[in-house]
Formats: sequence, C-alpha cells, structure tokens
Amino acid sequence: MVKVPLKDGVYWVGVVDWNLRDFHDFVTRRGTTYNAYIVQDEKIALIDTVKHTFSNELVRHVTELTSFEKIDYIIVNHVEMDHSSSLPVIAKLAKNAKIIASQRGKEALIDHYGLDFERVETVKTGDEVKLGNKTLRFVEAPMLHWPDSMFTYLVEDKILMPNDAFGQHLATSERFDDEVDEHVLMEEATIYYANILMPLAPLITRKIQEVVAMKIPIDIIAPSHGIIWRKDPMKIINAYLNWSSGATKNKVTIVFDTMWNSTDKMARAIAEGAASQGVDVKMVKLRSSPNSEAVTEILDAKAVLVGSPTLNNQLFPTLGGFLTYITGLRPKGKLWGFFGSYGWGGGAVKGMIKTAKEAGFVVYEPSVEVKFVPDEEDLKKCFEFGQQIAQKIKV
Ligand code: FEO
Repeated sequence: MVKVPLKDGVYWVGVVDWNLRDFHDFVTRRGTTYNAYIVQDEKIALIDTVKHTFSNELVRHVTELTSFEKIDYIIVNHVEMDHSSSLPVIAKLAKNAKIIASQRGKEALIDHYGLDFERVETVKTGDEVKLGNKTLRFVEAPMLHWPDSMFTYLVEDKILMPNDAFGQHLATSERFDDEVDEHVLMEEATIYYANILMPLAPLITRKIQEVVAMKIPIDIIAPSHGIIWRKDPMKIINAYLNWSSGATKNKVTIVFDTMWNSTDKMARAIAEGAASQGVDVKMVKLRSSPNSEAVTEILDAKAVLVGSPTLNNQLFPTLGGFLTYITGLRPKGKLWGFFGSYGWGGGAVKGMIKTAKEAGFVVYEPSVEVKFVPDEEDLKKCFEFGQQIAQKIKV
C-alpha cells in the first residue's frame, strides 16, 4: 500500500469495500470504506478496525507501518461490527495493546466478542492518553449513533476522528476531499446523514455546539467511512448544522408504488399540480428506487406525498416497508399527504394516515382516492391536490 499520511505520524490504514451495495438495507450504490488510523509516537495507537471480512487487508496495511507487538493502544470509538469485527483478530496480534472504549463501548465489546474484561479500559469526555508528543483526547458522543459512540481528538495534530459522524458511503481510490468530485462527495454525505443520522438531529446540534464550545481547533476530520475532510472541514460541520436544524425548501417529494398504473397516473397528475405552483417536485417509485433514495429526497422537502394501491385491503407491501423506515427516522417539520387507488373495499390510504398520525406527522386532509382507473375528473382532483399542497408550503 502507498502510505496515506494525514500528518506526520498519522496514517490511514483502512480498506475500501468497492462492491458493497447493501448496508443493512441502506443501498450503498458507490460502495464504502472502513477507515482505521495508526498514530505513531513513542507509543503507537490504532484507531478503530474494519469489517471482519477485510481483517487480512488491515493487517497488511498496519504491518507496513509497524509490527503489531509495538501497538500500545487500540481505540474503539464505536462497536458496530463494520468497525470492530476485526478486533478479535487484531487484539490477538497486538497482544501488548490496551483496548480503550467508552463504558458503554466496553459493555458492547464484551457482549459482541467476549473479550477479556480486564483488557478494556474505559474513558470519558476529557480523558487523555499521551503517546509522547501526541495526545489522544476522548469525547463521548452517546447515540451518535449508538450509546457507545465516542470521538477521538488528536490534540497536537488537530485531527478529529468522529467515527460514523461526518462519513459517507463512498468507495474511491482517493482519500481526501480535495481529491474527489465535490458534488459526489456532498451527495453521498447527504444520503448518509438522511438515512443514518436524521432521527438524531437534536443530539447532533448539541454535540457540535459542545465541541465548538471546547474551542478545539480542527484541521482535519477523519471519519470512519469515506473521504477525509482536510480542505474544508467546516463544510461538513456546517452541512450537519443545516440538516440537523431541519432546514427545508419549497419542495414536494412524492413517494409511491403502483399495481396497474392507476396510482402512477395519480402521482404524475399530483406532481404536475405541485410543479404548476413553482415548487421543486421529486418523484420516487419504490419498486424502481430504494427507500434510502426516497429518504434522501425527503430530507429537505417541506411536503411529502405518499401513494399506494390497495392490496388485500391493505397498503402495498413496499409502502409498508417505507412507512416503517421513515417513521423510525422521525423526520420533523413536514406536511404529509396521502393518495391511492383501490378496486372495491379500499384500505391503503386509511392505513397510511393511521400510521402517520401515530408517528406524530402533520397530515394534510382530505386525501385523494380513486376507484380502479382514474378518469379525467379524478386526474383533475389529483392535479388540484398537488396545487393545494404546494400553496400550503409556500405560505
Ligand atoms: Fe455505526 Fe459505520 O457503523
């Protein structure tokens, strides 16, 4: 491997997972990386590991810089298995290393791997480990995005290693933000935030404010997935502040599925109606696009319109999965509308409204329903529905 230095004595030793397309149902169309870092001074620390299927590659990358016997510390910022499942292998090789984690991290490591309890030391916010001239300082970040999560800050080098925060699922041969297409980078950062961190928005705002209040200078943000931010780390911090504030624009996102194209025709008429009012409109058909794409289009939308045909008196199965996913992500400050088609009894729209209200979503009523195939009068109602929603969000 060509050495990838972040600064003197600080190296990326992670792996690129070019072919990953399914990250527990989050579609990662551009793959991902699992970033790990070596910090070398009088003592040596390995920050995080990688997914177990890539243990050998991590071993090779580390061995090019140091022998495992010389590693003094393995820092586990987060126990989710994409970052820690190599640890059983690595901990055996680095037999002299202490393992450092948050208290909840220690508990999770024992639950996952049954590691020797005595070998794991816990740290809390403000605790430091001196490596020589370099210092590791820890900042607990519970629920960003697991209870165990913490950040490691390299004091003298001004490098923040926040694990999952500020990451992207983006497999590239480049490692830094000044080496890649900025549009692609921000697109993947947006998808990542929307699908992983959206429900944690208040915590994110508070954690960023806390880090800012610590007045710690940050030259580099080195997350555990994707590209490292060295050209402009404030770009991703400001993007997170914007997303976590719930900022939206005059945009209507329509998420739907269809059986015999009736709901599709309704969706298209609604889209035309909304667009006629000058708002941005995005359409996502669920059997053509994954939930993760729908969620990304919802992140900055002021209104979300969801359409389903009725199947066996229920909503269509893809809509069931979508509503489970989106209610779990708890998007705030949006207006929700529902539409759909049915053959005889109906049920899809009623079911979706019930789910939305139980989740605390603000629901626009009345909704629009069509029996069998929409005629011109039905399509006019759909167009007007789109118009009304657009007018509502423009106020
Ligand atoms: Fe929470 Fe990248 O794992």
